[in-house]
Amino acid sequence: MARHLITSAIPYINGIKHLGNLVGSQLPADLYARYLRGRGHEVLFLCATDEHGTPAELAAAKAGKPVADYCAEMHVVQAKIAEGFRLSFDHFGRSSSDRNKALTQHFAGRLAENDLIREVSEKQMYSHADGRYLPDRYIEGTCPNCGFDSARGDQCDNCTKQLDPVDLINPHSTISGSTDLEMRETKHLYLRQTAMKDQLDTWIDSKTDWPVLTTSIAKKWLRDGDGLQDRGITRDLDWGVPVKKGDADWPGMEGKVFYVWFDAPIEYIACAQEWVDAGKGADWERWWRTDKGAEDVTYTQFMGKDNVPFHTLSFPSTILGSGEPWKLVDYIKSFNYLNYDGGQFSTSRGRGVFMDQALEILPADYWRWWLLSHAPESSDSEFTWDNFQQSVNKDLADVLGNFVSRITKFCRSKFGEVVPEAGAYGDKEQAVIAALTERLRAYEGFMDAIEVRKAAGELRAIWVIGNEYLQDAAPWSTFKTDEATAAAQVRFGLNLIGLYAVLSAPFIPDAAATMLAAMKMDNAGWPEDIAAALNALPAGHAFEVPENLFRKISDEEREEWQTRFAGVRT
Ligand code: 2FM
Ligand code: ZN
Repeated sequence: MARHLITSAIPYINGIKHLGNLVGSQLPADLYARYLRGRGHEVLFLCATDEHGTPAELAAAKAGKPVADYCAEMHVVQAKIAEGFRLSFDHFGRSSSDRNKALTQHFAGRLAENDLIREVSEKQMYSHADGRYLPDRYIEGTCPNCGFDSARGDQCDNCTKQLDPVDLINPHSTISGSTDLEMRETKHLYLRQTAMKDQLDTWIDSKTDWPVLTTSIAKKWLRDGDGLQDRGITRDLDWGVPVKKGDADWPGMEGKVFYVWFDAPIEYIACAQEWVDAGKGADWERWWRTDKGAEDVTYTQFMGKDNVPFHTLSFPSTILGSGEPWKLVDYIKSFNYLNYDGGQFSTSRGRGVFMDQALEILPADYWRWWLLSHAPESSDSEFTWDNFQQSVNKDLADVLGNFVSRITKFCRSKFGEVVPEAGAYGDKEQAVIAALTERLRAYEGFMDAIEVRKAAGELRAIWVIGNEYLQDAAPWSTFKTDEATAAAQVRFGLNLIGLYAVLSAPFIPDAAATMLAAMKMDNAGWPEDIAAALNALPAGHAFEVPENLFRKISDEEREEWQTRFAGVRT
């Protein structure tokens, strides 16, 4: 039994995430956590809400609420939706927790002691009407390059030119619309990532088994162009972790907070502390401190590709720069983007299907199966309603659901709701055992390697084997001439349901639980040996015919949903 720490990128607090966000981090992380638990490993699976930064402040203002209240409410909303998708976090924390504040200030103090922080004076746009400094993207004006009239302070969306707010013609605040702006001098802290470059370089080079998507992004930032840059880690905002050196004030930094991307990954650690505070665990250090047992932990992070630079360069700079024995990530699984019906999912433009909406129309398993079996691993992938309907109807309803329903109903009609008395399995069954054993080992291999789509493919093949067996053995025909053989076939089929439940649980936990409950199996473990697993239910063992596991999506529904979600969510 090994120990696995798993974290998913922590979702921003402002608003409900869409299915593209879900499949890029939380869902595959949950798949992996469930799989490792299923195999008997000790797992700590953490996630949280990412609560600081300007977007949170603005969303709260728009909702007419104090930002702390807004975050508290949205955390509950997100936690409930996560539960709806059966995301099995051991703890769902908050980056605004006291634990994260203290830890963030601690890290900043350590980095300062190690001479890895420098102070920089810079000019920034101050809005008198808003009474605050404006981050670049909250300033808009006319692009000096192409004349586009809503170019942002950091970039023009029309001609893609990178801009500075001072470049804009007639700049105004997007918060208030005010043009009463002034460039003011302000002081900020920079993390000297340049001083960490060689260490990071060597570390990334040692990760030869990481997905190419992860290492290519890291190497690009390390080596292309001007290479790794020092990074500003403070902001002139009210909402965030106050800038301090450990417990001590930081002269000249009064009223400033740390940049959200500095404190967010530190929440991975703070979350383990919150998990202990919540009474769910006894010891967080054995997961996070290599001097306290964490050297035995395998730490895997999940995230979308846009998050990779922060996890391969910035957060490791914080960890390594502290000079303290914190656990570094062992494996980073990153994902491309999921697109929506010919375009992009977009939170700001309300395009696509959002997590709450998805659960309103179908239960979690339907979504989990489609998303995971189409995870954007080697390239971007696309959600279409057509493809969704086909996958659900075929894989879940026709193959798995139908198998379970046919065998249990047939047994009930001929033998009652008990596993029938029967002789040993014959050649057909032995052939199935051999085929399943091969597929199972492949399935495990892909799950161990977190090759999500390939694992889904193996699982589907495992379900198909059962269906083909049933078709071929046809106990309903056998029964007419040879009741004993039909009974053995039925017993084999019923046992397959138990096996399928265990193997499918990481992907479709609700259906798996229904199957186990129907078969009245309380302690089904991972099948090390298929032949043994298919003898788990003895003759005379009672079961119940379950409700239909999956229903089909009709053409009318597909069309209705396609129309309903074609527009923009407001
Ligand atoms: O992209 C996002 O949704 C960010 N909130 C992820 C942060 S991950 C981390 F570092 F905590
Ligand atoms: Zn332009």
